[in-house]
Amino acid sequence: MNKKEIHPRTASKSESLDQRSEALLAKMTLAEKIGQMSQIAGTGGITAGLRKAVQQGKVGSILNEIDTDTLNELQRIAIEESRLGIPIIIGRDVIHGFQTVMPIPLGQAASWNPGLIEKSARVAAIEGASVGIHWTFAPMIDITRDPRWGRIAESLGEDPHLTSVLGAAMVKGFQGEDLANHDSLAACAKHFAGYGYSEAGKDYAYVNIAENELRNVVLPPFKAAADAGVATFMTAFSDVNGIPATGNEFLTRKVLREEWKYKGFVVSDWDSVIQLTTHGFAESEKEAAFEAVAAGVDMEMASQTYLYNIEALVREGRIDESLIDECVGNILRVKYALGLFEQPYTDESQFPEKGNDDHLAVARLAALESIVLLKNDYNVLPLNADHQHNIAIIGPLADDGHEQMGTWTFDGVEAWCQTPLKAIRDMLPGHVNIHVARGLDTTRSKHRKGFAEALEAAAKSETVILFMGEEAILSGEAHCRADIDLPGVQNELLAEIAKLGKTTILVVMAGRPLTLDLTRQHVNAILYAWHPGTMGGPAIADVLFGKSNPSGKLPVTFPKHVGQIPIYYNQRMSGKPATAQSFTYIDDIPKRAPQTSTGNTSFHMDAGYEPLYPFGFGLSYTRFYYGEVRLSDHEFRVGEGIEVYIDLTNIGEVHGAEVAQLYIRDRFGSITRPVRELKGFQKVWLHPGETRTLTFQLHSDDLAFYNRQMNLVTEPGGFDLWVGGDSNASKHAHFKINQ
Ligand code: GLC
Repeated sequence: MNKKEIHPRTASKSESLDQRSEALLAKMTLAEKIGQMSQIAGTGGITAGLRKAVQQGKVGSILNEIDTDTLNELQRIAIEESRLGIPIIIGRDVIHGFQTVMPIPLGQAASWNPGLIEKSARVAAIEGASVGIHWTFAPMIDITRDPRWGRIAESLGEDPHLTSVLGAAMVKGFQGEDLANHDSLAACAKHFAGYGYSEAGKDYAYVNIAENELRNVVLPPFKAAADAGVATFMTAFSDVNGIPATGNEFLTRKVLREEWKYKGFVVSDWDSVIQLTTHGFAESEKEAAFEAVAAGVDMEMASQTYLYNIEALVREGRIDESLIDECVGNILRVKYALGLFEQPYTDESQFPEKGNDDHLAVARLAALESIVLLKNDYNVLPLNADHQHNIAIIGPLADDGHEQMGTWTFDGVEAWCQTPLKAIRDMLPGHVNIHVARGLDTTRSKHRKGFAEALEAAAKSETVILFMGEEAILSGEAHCRADIDLPGVQNELLAEIAKLGKTTILVVMAGRPLTLDLTRQHVNAILYAWHPGTMGGPAIADVLFGKSNPSGKLPVTFPKHVGQIPIYYNQRMSGKPATAQSFTYIDDIPKRAPQTSTGNTSFHMDAGYEPLYPFGFGLSYTRFYYGEVRLSDHEFRVGEGIEVYIDLTNIGEVHGAEVAQLYIRDRFGSITRPVRELKGFQKVWLHPGETRTLTFQLHSDDLAFYNRQMNLVTEPGGFDLWVGGDSNASKHAHFKINQ
């Protein structure tokens, strides 16, 4: 192919995106318009059929082709051999890194660091764009409170405020300063909406969700993404209250277009248009196409119902061509914004080398700040390498680069992964003997044949570091678990090792919260590393041996028992809430106990009412002290705001970061309100003895919710406010809002 003069994509500034889109639209035939609404899955290479379809203008987008030469040739065919020369937009799931892999999004969320998350997405965009990708199907901002659901791994956790802030940061990182920059990717807010409420944590299952829950919990992160300028949305597979999201006018027309005035385009999920027939929502593929277009789904991913049915629907008068023009206009505006008409081709030499030191440094920092210290009895961590003589490194995840990358890492380069074992070996002084034993083939292994070797390694050592958890395949799309204990016989191995009485540290790699109530009784310390990505090993080693102080905080509640799910911090009060007094262990209840003996409140007799670890929780190698909360005012009006002050001091011996979290409770509302809601957070690094006064801005708009009349309002009344290091924050104040 004769290489055109390659230069960064620069969108023409002379005409507006609307003007350019409308001008092109006016030239298009109906068939060409429908072509823009079709995204096909790349099959590796250019078949005769694909070449012909591109020449005929039937391919608006391609996903899952990443060979640069192939992409440039497909663009050349589209530009030079189709009638109107409209460039193709290339999509790919660049979810948490391209070849340099960052922690899974749930792990990134544990950093509570929007700036770092933006940087991670920026690296992902640069590497993805370098091969010719223009569009990533991220961020996934589905709120979920069900760790059985495999896709919790891709989410940013259970909280609307945290997901809103971090999701917007990802959008900015992917899209960069200007979509037309050659290293920008159009982002995609997904999955619109409610997918994280899949019944029983089973993927693709029914979603039953009240409108006020949808509007007050599920939709805010999508609104934040739209406000951040996200270029596209993706509809969910889910059947939402009986109307699948891919045919749901309430979501993609009323909310997204009428209320939010959204101007980007909406793509379906993979085959989710044709699946409207499977749902029993559309009687035929033609009806599926009708329902999806009528609902405002601009582009169909993978299935081809649009290509084969929309022309007839328009000819029959069932769909007005003006609706098609709207869809195509939405798509063309994004293509113009991306500068694809100016520069559809990619030259990898214009980009920095993938996996370069800067990218790996971001991946290492992202992994470091994602690590949550859950337990540290007697401050066994950090380990002092100089005092170690024999260390056992045991478990199936100590040295497995593929597994530590986690789910949705099609393009991650395993060879670049630095595992914990390698990093520990590189870090420890020569006098330390490292005894390695895998113990189990995989995290799912049911046999004990490796136990003896593991126990032998442990017996020789003063310190045992276990690397256990879930392989990457145990989370992600369609990979849900009904039991979220450590899989296989990991707990059994751990219990055997615990009997040796060594200092035992557990490092967990997993794509979800696991139920560790029994597990934690056998170990002195627990580091939760999620799936930490390419540089997980050095990050974990730095924390284990004190080169870095862990700062992660949980973005999701950890249940004691799977039977507690859904369990989350921002629950409603109930008319009979559990209290510390009401909880009775099931086996303590005397025979024929009176019905009221367990307090008749809201809890499980065999699990209580509290989680294992609460939302926002995370320990440090230092300690932080919160002073009293001070308010600039204790009364203000709707439309006004106050400042919240608190002094935070590092009262420990080492430098460290704390995430100070601000929660409120609306004491009374026209609908019941959560017992707590996160409304602000600040991650601060403090030296030993250092005190900093933190200031939070709190405006009455921050307290607005969709009320009984389904209006977004701040209702006057009394509020509680807390500031602290997790969702059990205790430094309290109260204020009143007047009309
Ligand atoms: C998948 C996922 C979606 C992804 C798309 C393209 O089924 O649901 O999140 O972006 O298909 O791979």
